[in-house]
Amino acid sequence: MLANRRIVLGVTGGIAAYKAVLLCRMLVDAGAHVIPVMTESAQRFVGRATFDALASEPTRTSIFDDPDPIPHTTLGQTADLIVVAPATARCIGSYANGISDDLLTATLIATKAPVVVCPAMHTEMWEHPAVQDNLATLKKRGVHLVAPDEGRLAGGDSGAGRLAAPEAIYETIEAVLSDGDFQGRTVVVTAGGTREAIDPVRYVGNRSTGKQGYAVAEAARARGAHVTLISTVSAEAPSGVEIVRVESAAQMHAAVLERSDADVIVMTAAVADFRPVGVAESKIKKDAGPPKLELEPTPDILAELGAEKKPGQVIVGFAAETEDLVSHAQSKLERKNVDVIVANDVSAPQVGFAHDTNEVTIFVSDGCQRHVSLRSKRQIAEEVLNTVAQILVG
Ligand code: CTP
Repeated sequence: MLANRRIVLGVTGGIAAYKAVLLCRMLVDAGAHVIPVMTESAQRFVGRATFDALASEPTRTSIFDDPDPIPHTTLGQTADLIVVAPATARCIGSYANGISDDLLTATLIATKAPVVVCPAMHTEMWEHPAVQDNLATLKKRGVHLVAPDEGRLAGGDSGAGRLAAPEAIYETIEAVLSDGDFQGRTVVVTAGGTREAIDPVRYVGNRSTGKQGYAVAEAARARGAHVTLISTVSAEAPSGVEIVRVESAAQMHAAVLERSDADVIVMTAAVADFRPVGVAESKIKKDAGPPKLELEPTPDILAELGAEKKPGQVIVGFAAETEDLVSHAQSKLERKNVDVIVANDVSAPQVGFAHDTNEVTIFVSDGCQRHVSLRSKRQIAEEVLNTVAQILVG
C-alpha cells in the first residue's frame, strides 16, 4: 500500500526526533519514497546525516539553501502525504495560523496532500488551551492527528505528551493512504453484547461495550464504505454511519439477515450463545425463591451467513477466547465457513472487552495468519479492513 508513495517526513525540534528515524526506516522498508524535511532545531536533536542515509532523498532543511529554487511548492505539490513527527507546539501553531516560517511549515501550507500531525511536548504545553485550540483548528480542516501517549518525558517528567509509537504513526499513514478503498462497498458491522431477557427488568448479558465494532464501522466509513452498524449499545453512531439499534440475539439475527447481501459483514458483536426459554411476562418476585433458568441456543448468525455466503462477499467473525486461541479460531474459521476470524485473548491485560486497546491474531481462510500487537481499537479496525480489502480485490 505504501509502495512508491511520496511521503514528506517533517521532523521538528523535540527530544522525540530520534523516533522519527525509526519511522523513516519503517516507511522506506514498506517501499515508500521518503523525503525528510528537518527544522533547524530538529537538527540539534538528530543529525541530518542519519536521515540522509536512511531516506530516499537527501534531507531538506531550508527554503533558500536548496538545489530547488522553490522547494516548498515542489515538495507540497508532489507529496502523496506529509507526516510531521514529532510536531512541536511552535510548528502546530504556525501551521494552524498559516504562518510559513521555515521550509516545513511552508511545505505544509503549499500542499493539498493529506497531512498527519503527531504532537510531542511536555504535558503543560500539551494541555495549554492555545495548543489545543490550534489542534482543533487543524482537525476541523481535515488534518489527521496521532495523539501523544502518556509516559516518560524529557527531564525525568512523566505525563501526557510523549510522541506516539512509530508503529502507531505508521498505521495511521497506511490508513490515510488507503482512504477510499471501500468506496461503493456496503459494509454491515455488529457491535456490543446482546441482552437476553429473563423478565421485563432482568437479562442475561456479557461484558462487551461495542468499542471494537464502533471502531470498525468508523474506519470503514472513513475508507468510503456505506456502513450500517447494528448495535446493542446506546453510544452515538460514528458520523456518516447508519445505525440500527437492537437488544437480543433474535433482533440482531433479523437485522443482519435483512442486510445479508452486503459486500462485507463484520460480526464484532458478542452475541449470546444461549437465552432463557420464554420470557416471564411480569417481574419475577423473590418470594417464590430463586427461579430455575432454562436456556436454549440462539441462532448462530455468523454460521448462517457463512452457510449462505454470496459470491464475492467477505464475512468476518470475531473470537473472544480465554485459552487455546489459535486452535479455536482456526476451527471457527472452518466450521462457520467465513473468510476471516479476528481472535483475541480476552484474558490478557488491556485486551478485549471495555478496553480502548486490543491485541489480535487475524486468521484468513487461505491459511494466512497475522498477529497484530497491542494498539488502539481503531488501529486494529484498520488492520482488519486491510485484510478484507486484500480479499475483495482478489
Ligand atoms: N456469533 C453469532 N451468533 C451467535 C454467537 C456468535 O453470529 N449466536 C458470532 C460472533 O459475533 C462472533 C463469532 O460468532 O463473530 C464468535 O462467537 P463465539 O460465540 O465465540 O463462537 P462459537 O462458535 O459459539 O464458539 P464458543 O464455543 O467459543 O462460544
